[in-house]
Amino acid sequence: MMIDSYLSRLFGASSIRSPSVIATELYQRKDHGTFLLGNARDNPEASMVSTRSFEANLLGITGKSAIVTGAAGGMGSSTTRLLARLGANVLAVDLHFKRNQFRNMMPGKVLNFEADVSDYSQVKKAVSACVRSFSDVDILVNCAGILKGGTILDLDFKDWKRIIDVNLVGYVNFAKEVSTVMIRNKTRGRIVNVSSTAAISAEPGNIAYCASKGGIVSLTKALAIELAPQGIRVNSIAPGWTETPFATAYLTEKSKEAVRKRIPLGYICPPDEMARSIVFLASDMSSFMTGTIMVVDGGQLSDSTIPGVEY
Ligand SMILES: NC(=O)c1ccc[n+]([C@@H]2O[C@H](COP(=O)([O-])OP(=O)(O)OC[C@H]3O[C@@H](n4cnc5c(N)ncnc54)[C@H](O)[C@@H]3O)[C@@H](O)[C@H]2O)c1
Repeated sequence: MMIDSYLSRLFGASSIRSPSVIATELYQRKDHGTFLLGNARDNPEASMVSTRSFEANLLGITGKSAIVTGAAGGMGSSTTRLLARLGANVLAVDLHFKRNQFRNMMPGKVLNFEADVSDYSQVKKAVSACVRSFSDVDILVNCAGILKGGTILDLDFKDWKRIIDVNLVGYVNFAKEVSTVMIRNKTRGRIVNVSSTAAISAEPGNIAYCASKGGIVSLTKALAIELAPQGIRVNSIAPGWTETPFATAYLTEKSKEAVRKRIPLGYICPPDEMARSIVFLASDMSSFMTGTIMVVDGGQLSDSTIPGVEY
């Protein structure tokens, strides 16, 4: 009903057009951000004007080109799969991939690209590959990350440099290349930088990681302000505990239970669930958000309960 009245308003009640013609026309109205239908020619799903496509239009993901870094990992692979299922074509970037990790990800296509995000020349090749394959870059999700513990006293400068190079310089490398393409193509793109609750609330023995994730928050604000005149939105997400090899490597069964108890919602987030929040920031659903840090932690940072204190 809603989509019918919307289409009547757009095209006039008397106009008789097939769904695919309407889809193509909507696609050509590139300025109609929220209701962009994606590439109707390459993506048959996008040509179905139905309630389902109304939802897809609201997200504005169908037919878009995306780059996801850290795409072989827990959160990155979930994000890649979700974007492809919503109809985006995705260049999945990581150091290494297991073969066929993203088989049958219709309606979007997924191409694996092996690159080290900290190496600018490799990043340039990755972004060129995305443009060559999918003609543009609409969405960048910077998600690659590493962690190695160390206090300020036992800090190893080689580890420090590597963590900053991957977690912070890697994000800058992709943001620079991708925003250059977006500005050249007049693409009102979206960049999502995966930070961490460690950017806001620190733990002892995690100096380099906390600093790198805090840097991502400031980087996001600076990029958002620079790129806002071109309509490019840049946001960061601060995930709390998420059930990926990255986090579980540091947890025993006992400490896992302790983590669950610290999270008001009572569970460690599955990566597919965290991917939805990442995709929210990459979608038109967050169209008036830029420069923000969105905390997604099951309530952990909001909880300042001190045992024994009652009101
Ligand atoms: N899992 C959590 O609890 C949690 C919480 C907060 C933030 N994060 C952040 O989320 C992001 C994803 O983490 P995850 O939990 O999916 O971890 P993960 O280890 O499963 O995935 C990280 C991926 O990054 C890739 N990577 C590392 N160095 C790279 C490089 N130089 N070039 C290209 N790729 C590289 C790895 O190969 C890996 O596939 C990271 O930035 C991490 O800091 C994770």
